[in-house]
Amino acid sequence: MKPVQPDVVSPPQVSTSAARTDLASPTAQLQLGDKTVQLPIVVGTENDRAVDISHLREHSGFITLDEGYANTGACCSSISYVDGDKGILRYRGIPIEQLAEHSTFVETAWFLIYGELPTADQLRNFRRLLTEHEMLHEGLHNMFNGFPQHAPPMATLSAMINACSCYHPDILAPEDRSTFESAAARLISKVRTIAAASYKTSIGHPIVYPNPKLSYCENFLHMMFTIPNQPYEPDEQIVRALNLLLILHADHEQNCSTSTVRMVASSGANLFASCAAGVCALWGPLHGGANVAVIETLDMLHKSKIDPKDYIAKVKDKSSGIRLMGFGHRVYKYYDPRAQILRAVADKLLSTLKINDPLLDIARRLEEIALQDSYFKDRHLYPNVDFYSGIVMRAMGLPVNMFTVLFAIGRTPGWVAHWKEVRDNVHKRIDRPRQVYIGHTLRDYIPVEMR
Ligand code: CMC
Repeated sequence: MKPVQPDVVSPPQVSTSAARTDLASPTAQLQLGDKTVQLPIVVGTENDRAVDISHLREHSGFITLDEGYANTGACCSSISYVDGDKGILRYRGIPIEQLAEHSTFVETAWFLIYGELPTADQLRNFRRLLTEHEMLHEGLHNMFNGFPQHAPPMATLSAMINACSCYHPDILAPEDRSTFESAAARLISKVRTIAAASYKTSIGHPIVYPNPKLSYCENFLHMMFTIPNQPYEPDEQIVRALNLLLILHADHEQNCSTSTVRMVASSGANLFASCAAGVCALWGPLHGGANVAVIETLDMLHKSKIDPKDYIAKVKDKSSGIRLMGFGHRVYKYYDPRAQILRAVADKLLSTLKINDPLLDIARRLEEIALQDSYFKDRHLYPNVDFYSGIVMRAMGLPVNMFTVLFAIGRTPGWVAHWKEVRDNVHKRIDRPRQVYIGHTLRDYIPVEMR
């Protein structure tokens, strides 16, 4: 009998402009039964390697299965870079540490969206646009009255961002650069106005209008904390800490909320609709909602006087179902650089403002115990961005139910940048994963009287 010749399928063209395939062996071979499929290898600018399986099913009948997408590159992107083994985060090539030290949130936002640091003129123009669009349409303002007083601010935020689509139909399909700029500035500016207004509504205070003379962060604090009979003077240290906090949250490659924004954008949905979906994804406790869960844990430990050692023992006992919130990360298997910066900020801010927060001591103790424990060491579990951010926000006077909202304000420029990257991709296809069906095989309908 003649041996069956392997059926070698040649690689299709890769449509990723900055990615390379200049390895000694630019293809991978996958053996599926008697068929050998050659798959292109894509190499990123930081030498990330990926096997391009986009034509695998077409050539072999197989799909890949990767629940939770831990091994799936959903796109090529040039916005942020994470090396989880070394604890590196860069926005558009610049280390997060440098941006945290030298930049402002507004400058970082422009940089993420447009890819280069802005010139003085570009920055001035962007600030002008943010100020121009800081107000909400009165129709949007009226919508706040429709929410119950204690509505979760993340629910309100998502609903209000989506509702912006109703009030700005002219920018829903930004064809040219200036319309896009105006849409991006509107969203980044209004997200802060909406957030502060939702807080004011939740505590029964009148909504405070933005003040065009204030910077982005000062203005947010003004809208949060001014009351009609008591103006608020933002402390310089708090303004700086807020800038830093927002910079640290501004982008983080293909996390859950950003992937959500990209997926919604891939259908052609507008910027507001896509980012409203991002807010919903961020809300969950395994993602942005972890910053609330961390403070709740620390507060519970403080009030109940449970020894952090005993709590860590509970976390290690899988039957407890408890996780140490603010620990662990899908990508970082070493320190999250944002957590390191925030730990130092928490120390500095509390000492400058002369705040003695017992929760900081508990957090430090938990970290110390966890980092020496083999459960955490073996699983490479380190503090993530959410571990110390709540303590910083508490010191700034921000209420706990606004913590994830602050994350959303910070992440908005990243979402905008990713939305733009999807929209500008000439090879764009709708995101539409496959599945392995595990339900019933063919069966007949049974009339109700026979069931
Ligand atoms: N506490 C205790 N055990 C943990 C933790 C934790 N925080 N995180 C992971 N593990 C264990 C997990 O039980 C598993 O153990 P085993 O191998 O024995 O089954 C192992 O570590 C791997 O965990 P995983 O769930 O497969 O990891 P993942 O990559 O799917 O999840 C994570 C990543 C961030 C969702 C997870 O680490 C976690 O739930 N952390 C707590 C929530 C949190 O802080 N989220 C914020 C993430 S960073 C900012 C953001 O994205 O918003």
